[in-house]
Amino acid sequence: MNRFGPAALAASGLLHLARLDRFSLRSFTLDRYATPIAAAQLHAVIVLGLETSCDETGVALLDSEHGVLANALHSQVEMHRDYGGVVPELASRDHIRRLPSLLQRTLSEAKLGLLQVDAIAVTAGPGLVGALLVGASFGHALGYALGRPVIDIHHLEGHLLSPLLAQPRPEFPFVALLVSGGHTQLMQVNGVGRYHLLGETQDDAAGEAFDKTAQLLGLGYPGGPAVSRMAEFGVAGAFAFPRPMLHSGDLNFSFSGLKTAVLTAVRNVGDLCEQVRADVARAFVDAVVDVLVRKSLAALTRTGLRRLVVAGGVGANRQLRQALQRETQRAGIELFFPPQELCTDNGAMIAMAGLARLQTGAIATPLAFGVRPRWPLDSGN
Ligand code: KG4
Ligand code: ZN
Repeated sequence: MNRFGPAALAASGLLHLARLDRFSLRSFTLDRYATPIAAAQLHAVIVLGLETSCDETGVALLDSEHGVLANALHSQVEMHRDYGGVVPELASRDHIRRLPSLLQRTLSEAKLGLLQVDAIAVTAGPGLVGALLVGASFGHALGYALGRPVIDIHHLEGHLLSPLLAQPRPEFPFVALLVSGGHTQLMQVNGVGRYHLLGETQDDAAGEAFDKTAQLLGLGYPGGPAVSRMAEFGVAGAFAFPRPMLHSGDLNFSFSGLKTAVLTAVRNVGDLCEQVRADVARAFVDAVVDVLVRKSLAALTRTGLRRLVVAGGVGANRQLRQALQRETQRAGIELFFPPQELCTDNGAMIAMAGLARLQTGAIATPLAFGVRPRWPLDSGN
């Protein structure tokens, strides 16, 4: 864990704060700076969510009674496009640039002052260390200045609980399919903080496979939405790609072989005309969707659960949504997605996870804070 003490905290964050709003430093004890809010004391609360783990700066305000009040997002996609992927140092610097104005924007949209924020939730990992430190120092400095609790959130917990921002909300327990740029996991979710890993990718994540396929097809970065759109024009069966680990007997995934199959197909064809690219995209999407759907159904059978929640950037994929809708309906499974715009990284899901954590117990905020670039979700906190 990368630990930063109070001095760094004050120096890095309070400067931002001074520009944001009038604030008063409250008294604090030496080992923590905020009075924990006990679950029993919770009535209506406003939670500020900050997300900076990768290439999106997300700031949101969530009201425990009225839902999302404001959700501001800045995507760094344009900045990283020329490099074909995220450049960590550029990402950190851009988060620093964006956070103050995004916070101001959410406050004015929600018609709230900084002092009306009751708690702050920050993504503390996993992700790019520099990017995480920007959000964590900003959030902890804000909490220190306002005397409010700061809740460190696991990025995947944010994705996992994001369907709670939609109606109808899934009840616990459920199986969650987490499909993002960095992770592909099946989780049994028994309650807030009670996560049991059922299976995960042994190599590339599904989103990563989308991004690499997009690169091979000359569709740029990030590739998911572009590959998905192109696949709509492809002829089914024009290419046959493998379904990796479909019959492995466990709930794990592997997508690197699929990437190699795409690479081989692209090399063999030579002339990548528009139709061939669409056909390759179609075969790739069909293979990924097939594996994700069948493993999800297997996880439901194995756990005996009847609810499936899908979250993470690839959860925005049209073909995956359609196939899951069809197959879960057939099997009598309840299916839940976050709202489409909350599938990819955002501050609202971090605020939601923060609120869920507040509702399950008191949060004590230590004076020092840290981030965890690597952090298994089922490892406890
Ligand atoms: O959850 P997310 O925003 O960030 C991570 O935590 O990684 O997921 C980003 C990933 C990228 O790989 C992107 O290509 C993929 O999600 N993605 C999609 C779609 N929208 C985003 N993949 C397939 N179809 C989409 N519509
Ligand atoms: Zn994410």
